[in-house]
Amino acid sequence: MNKTTKAETAVSILTESEVAERVEALLRQMSLEEKIGQLNQVGGADFAPGPKAEEQIRAGSAGSVLWVNDTKRFNELQKIAVEESPSGIPLLFALDVIHGYQTIFPVPLAMAASWDTAVPEKSQAVAAKEARAAGIHWTFAPMIDIARDARWGRIVEGAGEDPYLGSAMAAAQVRGFQGSDMTDPERVLACAKHFAGYGASDGGRDYDPVYLSDTQLRNIYLPPFAAAVKAGVATLMSAYMDLNDVPASGNRFLLRQVLRQEWGFDGFVVSDAFAVGNMVIQGHARDGREAALRGIQAGLNMDMSSYTYTEQAAGLVADGAVTVSEIEDLMRPILAIKVKMGLFEHPYVDEDLLAAVVARPEHRQAARWAAQRSMVLLKNEGGLLPLKKDIKNVAVIGPLADSMESTEGSWMVFGHTPAAVTVLAGIRAKLQDAQVTYAPGPEIRRDIPSWFESLMAEEAPKQPQTAEDAELAFQTAVETARAAELVVMVLGETALMAGEAASRASLDFPGRQAELLKAVSDLGKPVVLVLLNGRPLSINWAAEHIPAILEAWEPGTEGGHAVADVLFGEVNPGGKLPVSFPRKGSHAPLYYARNLTHSPEDSPMYNPRYWDGLPVPLYPFGFGLSYTTFAFSNLKVSAPQVRVNDTVTVSVDVANTGEVAGDEVVQLYIHQKWGSDSRPMRELKGFKRITLQPGETKTVTFQLGPDELKYWSTNAGQWIQEAAEFDIWVGADSLAALHTELEVVA
Ligand code: BGC
Repeated sequence: MNKTTKAETAVSILTESEVAERVEALLRQMSLEEKIGQLNQVGGADFAPGPKAEEQIRAGSAGSVLWVNDTKRFNELQKIAVEESPSGIPLLFALDVIHGYQTIFPVPLAMAASWDTAVPEKSQAVAAKEARAAGIHWTFAPMIDIARDARWGRIVEGAGEDPYLGSAMAAAQVRGFQGSDMTDPERVLACAKHFAGYGASDGGRDYDPVYLSDTQLRNIYLPPFAAAVKAGVATLMSAYMDLNDVPASGNRFLLRQVLRQEWGFDGFVVSDAFAVGNMVIQGHARDGREAALRGIQAGLNMDMSSYTYTEQAAGLVADGAVTVSEIEDLMRPILAIKVKMGLFEHPYVDEDLLAAVVARPEHRQAARWAAQRSMVLLKNEGGLLPLKKDIKNVAVIGPLADSMESTEGSWMVFGHTPAAVTVLAGIRAKLQDAQVTYAPGPEIRRDIPSWFESLMAEEAPKQPQTAEDAELAFQTAVETARAAELVVMVLGETALMAGEAASRASLDFPGRQAELLKAVSDLGKPVVLVLLNGRPLSINWAAEHIPAILEAWEPGTEGGHAVADVLFGEVNPGGKLPVSFPRKGSHAPLYYARNLTHSPEDSPMYNPRYWDGLPVPLYPFGFGLSYTTFAFSNLKVSAPQVRVNDTVTVSVDVANTGEVAGDEVVQLYIHQKWGSDSRPMRELKGFKRITLQPGETKTVTFQLGPDELKYWSTNAGQWIQEAAEFDIWVGADSLAALHTELEVVA
């Protein structure tokens, strides 16, 4: 097998016309079957249907392979493609590298909570380096679906509820994965998914249909994809579900009109797994033939593992439903990417590389830094945090306190072995001289198990704990807490309670965790609650009764160290919620950027919206505390009145009014007071995370111009910027009170 060194892998950057020439030359040598083969992505895992990967590759029926995570096997499969298949075109190897390959970073929702685009950019650059060293060319990330319904399990994979924050995080991830050009041997191709609207499934139920108006699509769900395309993302993945009754993988409006015609995207689109064939199950296409036709006509380039293209496309050409040139058009961008990456020159991976790359200490340092920056301090009554290191006796309690899987979080499948520093391990490392006791309490598990368990490296799931064992575990946890000076409770959801096929109706703590929290709180000791979770939880009782709450999300390999760094004050937390925390699952979807109504929130008539509890969030979007305090003042607009298309500068002074250095995320929100369409009562249009020393003041500026002030109008049927008045707020979260105004005139 070829061994490559870094010097050998240097690939020259080709011009667009050089790439096109090579693609055309290849195309001339290929049979129709081979061309169709390039549109096929073969599932290399046991659960995948279809003929064995080796057979399909040898026959020239494979453009790409997914669900293999084995460096040796990559080279073996590639050798078949290069040496034994008719045209010798190398394969693209793809895998879900969502927030780290071996060094695991915080889940994407957590990275968004950093409100610092350097976090996803640097994290995904490390993920790319490790994955590429393993032989992976292409990751199915970033997932950039806006999610406003906390019941939807996949909220963990994205950047939360807001299109502005989501777009910034989307572009940063693309830069991190791909770098500046495709020849870089330490980068991977990114894939923006799931195009589009998947996060708005009915009732938050995964895969259920999505109904979105043009306004919602254009203003909320599409912007992160537009940002990814602008950042140069090489590929997109079409979503599973029906969007306004048309499956996303056969959706001409999305794939042709928006993506190619309006945005000028020139990469390729892969379907979600089996999604082309699924158009039959979905009750959309009559049979496989029609499903393939829908996909091809919509401009879907690659069929992920349903084999509908390989089974049907030649027949469609034979009976004239599809032309050869339509097939070639779908294939060109796939070949172009292989050419640009230099895969023809360097198809193999050096099998010795991975061990050296994953051992780099800077990768773990980056993971710890990313986790530190992602943490959100939700409550800190009486300054309980940071804790003093001279504490003698701490109890760490909860089913997630020593769970590596839940510390690493979602998507740890395909042979990944968890190796995280848990919260317990992190606290023990920090308190070498103290007694740190531990009790998990009763186990937690899903009522209906996840199919993904079968893909995890762990051995088969054990039998559920009996009620007696659970009771014993409960009592042991309470007694362990009773014997300590201070208790750290680590509660939340296990990794597979969020993610794909992991929606839930309630946002309460699963299992007996809430009961355990109350029992421990009743002991009268200081209690710190650390949350490990991939979605907002309804923690109303805790918010009222527990003095200190730290949202740590699923923080990754170094998560336990990062939690301990924050708990003991070596790091001052500065993250902010990228999503509103509802008081109940039944309040979802709940988001800050709602329209006003005829009866605003503060009106004495007709309110509250529900008579059985306030539907306002427990913690608002953008919220997060610090060990210091900040004051905002002197909010100014460079001109109170401007013309449409002009840009103004908004400035504000932010002071650290506390005793320690800290980070504040300065957030700018606008509201267009009237117009062709009703506009949300607040919309984020700028943010900056800054560090301030005690007593220090900084002036922070934002630009507000057409990009920020325009919107897609239902009434106008297009993007417009209007002459209107705007409210502007700048502050520490989406309830910011410091206000000014701007008038835009024609
Ligand atoms: C998921 C995608 C993922 C694909 C490949 C699907 O089930 O929806 O997000 O990339 O599988 O693993």
